[in-house]
Amino acid sequence: MKFYNHKNINYLTNHIPQNSGVFVIIDKNVTEYFPKNRNFHFIPIDANEQNKSLEYVYGIYEALMGFGADRDCFIIGVGGGVTTDLAGFVASTYKRGVRFGFVPTTLLAQIDASIGGKNGVNFSGYKNMIGTINQPEWIYLTSTFLRSLDKRVFREGFAEMLKTFMIFDKDSYNSAVALASVYKNKEASAWQERELRRLIALCGEMKMQLVLEDEKDRGNRRLLNLGHTFAHAIEKCAADKKEDWLHGEAVSVGMVIAAKVAEKLSLCSEKVVSILRDDLLMASLPVSCPFSASQLFSAIEADKKRSGESITLILPKTIGRVVKKKIELKELQKVLKEI
Ligand SMILES: NC(=O)c1ccc[n+]([C@@H]2O[C@H](COP(=O)([O-])OP(=O)(O)OC[C@H]3O[C@@H](n4cnc5c(N)ncnc54)[C@H](O)[C@@H]3O)[C@@H](O)[C@H]2O)c1
Repeated sequence: MKFYNHKNINYLTNHIPQNSGVFVIIDKNVTEYFPKNRNFHFIPIDANEQNKSLEYVYGIYEALMGFGADRDCFIIGVGGGVTTDLAGFVASTYKRGVRFGFVPTTLLAQIDASIGGKNGVNFSGYKNMIGTINQPEWIYLTSTFLRSLDKRVFREGFAEMLKTFMIFDKDSYNSAVALASVYKNKEASAWQERELRRLIALCGEMKMQLVLEDEKDRGNRRLLNLGHTFAHAIEKCAADKKEDWLHGEAVSVGMVIAAKVAEKLSLCSEKVVSILRDDLLMASLPVSCPFSASQLFSAIEADKKRSGESITLILPKTIGRVVKKKIELKELQKVLKEI
């Protein structure tokens, strides 16, 4: 798997195999920024969570068959995480698997969703139930698309970026905080766009390194779950109350909760909690949980990472370093009430 990191989208054609049909599965919201190339066959999709389904995939298979796409074809998924998850799944299963690449168009997809080879769809009300692990040949990173992104969707990408650097790299974490506090996606300066591209590439390489060590997500790849146990619980509580939370927003609050739990367990200092909270606020991300400890705990009890009466959490030790900590559910319930 290769990363290509270009200022704009115009270099894409250099990376597409010649002599084979090219099929572009593209989020309708980004078609105007994608080059018109008469050798490409376009399959525009409505990229939303409801369409991340087997039924929607049938429609994409039919479109490919309608175009006469054969085993030698090349598929490009262009869009946010919904699109790359769908396009990766289609490419991994159509004709038992064809070649594919991604042009992720949200910040979250550029640093996270398009990387790691996890492709799939939701099923029967559960997220990402059906899928494959299969790497794209390349991921093409560019700032072209980020300018049109909704500010809130853009900021949630920063939450995931800060999370990755919080796990691995204090210096990049500090650079990302500095950039997040001044970056305005629609009118970013050339320097800011360059700095963002540098941080996106670093973030992607860090995730990719972990993926190479642990593709099936059974070991160190789980470090990327910093804040996610609490984030998923927040998302579950929010869904029950029909509140509108983006995943990255839940991750932001989830990281603060993880830091507070770590402090309570004497794994990190109060200073780490306050630095993290202040930095996330500076990036215009939420830091407070509106749900009670008991609501959160009930949601965590159902968490898929739970094994028996304990749960393994990823907790910060300091900025740029985390630990895995197995904790009894009873103890976690007590700690959550206290923080
Ligand atoms: N496979 C993985 O490892 C992985 C990891 C994290 C998340 N995900 C998945 O990613 C999905 C979320 O991805 P996402 O946050 O990128 O959301 P998304 O794909 O739903 O995109 C969010 C919104 O932004 C729009 N959009 C996309 N690019 C745009 C652009 N450049 N300009 C304007 N609008 C644009 C989309 O049409 C959509 O309305 C979830 O389904 C999640 O499960 C997968």
